[in-house]
Amino acid sequence: MVNKMNNFQAMVLDKVNDQSKLEIKQLSMDDLPEAEVTIRVAYSSVNFKDGAVAIQNNFVTSYPLVPGIDLAGTVLDSKDERFTIGDEVIVTSYKLGTGHFGGFSEIARVPAEWVVPLPKGLSLKESMILGTAGFTAALAVQRLEDNDLEPSDGPILVAGATGGVGSIAVNILAKKGYDVVASTGKLDQEEYLQGLGAKQIIHRNEIIDSDNKPLREEKWAGAIDPVGGKTLQYILSTLKYGASAATCGFTGGTEISTTVFPHISRGVNWLGIDSVECPMEKRLEIWNRLGNDLKPTTFTEEMVNEISLKELPEVLAAILEGKVRGRTLVKL
Ligand SMILES: NC(=O)c1ccc[n+]([C@@H]2O[C@H](COP(=O)([O-])OP(=O)(O)OC[C@H]3O[C@@H](n4cnc5c(N)ncnc54)[C@H](OP(=O)(O)O)[C@@H]3O)[C@@H](O)[C@H]2O)c1
Repeated sequence: MVNKMNNFQAMVLDKVNDQSKLEIKQLSMDDLPEAEVTIRVAYSSVNFKDGAVAIQNNFVTSYPLVPGIDLAGTVLDSKDERFTIGDEVIVTSYKLGTGHFGGFSEIARVPAEWVVPLPKGLSLKESMILGTAGFTAALAVQRLEDNDLEPSDGPILVAGATGGVGSIAVNILAKKGYDVVASTGKLDQEEYLQGLGAKQIIHRNEIIDSDNKPLREEKWAGAIDPVGGKTLQYILSTLKYGASAATCGFTGGTEISTTVFPHISRGVNWLGIDSVECPMEKRLEIWNRLGNDLKPTTFTEEMVNEISLKELPEVLAAILEGKVRGRTLVKL
């Protein structure tokens, strides 16, 4: 709770004598970085990157740090005329939670250039059920459609389907009328994935390239891939003529070995998806679509696990092991 002295709770990552330390601490307003917009955070969320920051100290550019790459809340104070007290806002991306105090905190202070007004059609809670994972899934869907994907083209593959990006991608695509094939390492989650709208569920081992074949049977009219590595190799070799794969992650590996053949023999597109430096004009467009035609149909208990700051360390470790299903919302 924020008290009368304006002290508040936050998760702090620090490095002392080369040892990293992650703890819930009481901070004061003076501990926050200099910036224009001060926000009472209502919700944050847990993404794979948060695990990488908090547990492995990857992506961290300064200590001490409040992790949390997502936040949504209400403006308490603004030195920028674009925002006034009481505005509901979202902040994700840039250096939030990697080089600037982030969302695992009851209060945050951020540059005005990073702040997105809460779009029509979303509550603060829904915006953080989506968070960076949902934003990235929507960015990938839009890129595929910008490259001519239509529901009548055939099945769309979503890899890492029970994860954050995967779950929301499955649901958005199903809502838009696509036939979604969901690939997962968790076959006991068939019912969950069907509930999100997947037509077919396959084991992730079926979409791993084990023999470096450049081309195989044409299967997918498109793919969203948060997994990378040998999964991406397989996807590129099985896309239909002229189809596209949207690559957004690396939970299965960062390195890939492929050939030019999918591109020069089948005209397939390998699309890169980046949420962090996405320009503000496009960012606003995607958030507005997330409150409108790309809004998931399901924000159910199956997809969302709500936790407090105290429960965060356990989830941050679990997400790195691929053990988290759907989205974890952090209530502040
Ligand atoms: N480009 C961007 O701007 C951007 C934005 C957001 C996220 N990302 C990246 O996208 C990826 C997913 O993020 P997320 O927050 O959705 O993570 P997440 O919730 O942990 O989901 C990742 C899913 O990948 C699958 N997976 C995990 N380990 C795997 C392995 N060793 N081999 C194959 N599959 C594995 C699991 O799904 P199943 O058990 O269902 O197979 C897991 O649930 C991460 O690499 C993240 O850094 C990038």
